[in-house]
Amino acid sequence: MLKEWTKTSWHDYPALQQPKWPDRQKYDQVLASLSTLPPLVFAGEIRELKKLLADAVAGRAFLLQGGDCSEEFAHCTAPNIRETLKVLLQMAVILTYAGGKPVVKVGRIAGQYAKPRSSDTEIVNGVEIPSYRGDMCNSAEPTPEARVPDPERMQKGYFLSAATLNLLRAFTRGGFAALHRVHAWNQEFVKQSPMGRSYERLANQISQALNFMEVIGISTDVPQLKQAHFFTSHEALFLGYEESLTREDSTTGGWYDCSAHMLWIGDRTRQLDGAHVEFLRGVLNPLGMKVGPQYETDDILSIIERLNPDNEPGRMTLITRFGAGKIDCCLPPLIRAVKRAGLNVLWCCDPMHANTFTAASGHKTRNFDDILSELRCFFELNWAEGTIPGGVHFELTGDNVTECIGGARQLADEQLSLNYLTTCDPRLNAEQSLEMAFQIAEMIRT
Ligand code: TRP
Ligand code: MN
Repeated sequence: MLKEWTKTSWHDYPALQQPKWPDRQKYDQVLASLSTLPPLVFAGEIRELKKLLADAVAGRAFLLQGGDCSEEFAHCTAPNIRETLKVLLQMAVILTYAGGKPVVKVGRIAGQYAKPRSSDTEIVNGVEIPSYRGDMCNSAEPTPEARVPDPERMQKGYFLSAATLNLLRAFTRGGFAALHRVHAWNQEFVKQSPMGRSYERLANQISQALNFMEVIGISTDVPQLKQAHFFTSHEALFLGYEESLTREDSTTGGWYDCSAHMLWIGDRTRQLDGAHVEFLRGVLNPLGMKVGPQYETDDILSIIERLNPDNEPGRMTLITRFGAGKIDCCLPPLIRAVKRAGLNVLWCCDPMHANTFTAASGHKTRNFDDILSELRCFFELNWAEGTIPGGVHFELTGDNVTECIGGARQLADEQLSLNYLTTCDPRLNAEQSLEMAFQIAEMIRT
């Protein structure tokens, strides 16, 4: 029998991947202060997202989730936020048109500041120093001093998340996200891309649809066209931080983690009797769960049942990350087991994480073709099993980075060093992201 859930009940369970904060007193002070600050998102918005995800479970909507592997404090600028939002909106228009259903837009943004690591320490120039665990813990700079976990970074993470959200809200309400405008950016892209020809047809069809609405006199001055719904998400990793932003909703009495609309639990921290599962089972947000090739079927079923005892659609999104070479053997048995157990989940593909390798140049990279190939298998395997491939999850940026190889410009190994900026995993750049959307569009076209 499980004991009653409270926002602190996770304290009685083993919590993996937590920083070893050296100054406990300061840690407690920061969390006490965070717990009095306003929530970043609101319960009503969280419920709205859950409803949209329930639509996706039923095949009436499609989830697009994406953003940085790990956000950096120093990159919290208006141009960076704007460009990431822009590329996600551009992808969303393409997918909405091709799939013929609403796209639920969820950023990995405004709080994606904590990272799990495979080792507590790393060796840099012969010296063993603590690993970088995300800007909310320490600095990526490879010195022993910079790597000391500093609780004040959680405070800073909160304020930068608030600043990011503020801009996202302004951009998505204020006309920046207007459908015509986003489509005009896509036309620009199609003109410039070496693959432009093959994307032109779809882009032209969208133009015609918009033009048709205009000529028959449908006003473009309406919120449905001028505004976009946009939600935030991050990995719920540092449980003290998440606890401090967990609030009881005054209208319903339910508990919500108000640090983001959607939270996911990582492949490394999803132990059935671990602190992360314990914490997340009590908050009412939509939850993602990453599942990698090492999963055990019964374990996954038990975790889903623990996190979603009422089997509510929209609560659980399974974000599979198997790799192009393994998805064929890993996904079908999982789909069948979940189906047999009658569990309502949204199937979402993360084609990034298991396709990482080190290039000859020493850069951690991913190949556009591997990413695409995992995606293609994901759609086909779901269709073959009679389940709904309901979403995709990307690490991407609006920046013109050179972190993943391939794509229409055939980015090569030797070019990775030109603009390799990530402190964590390699991201698709803006062009590669849009291409990915056009490629998915071909798969899901109705
Ligand atoms: N309001 C709709 C939505 O959020 C349509 C829309 C307006 C839209 N601007 C958009 C869709 C930009 C995608 C991208 O889905
Ligand atoms: Mn990553």
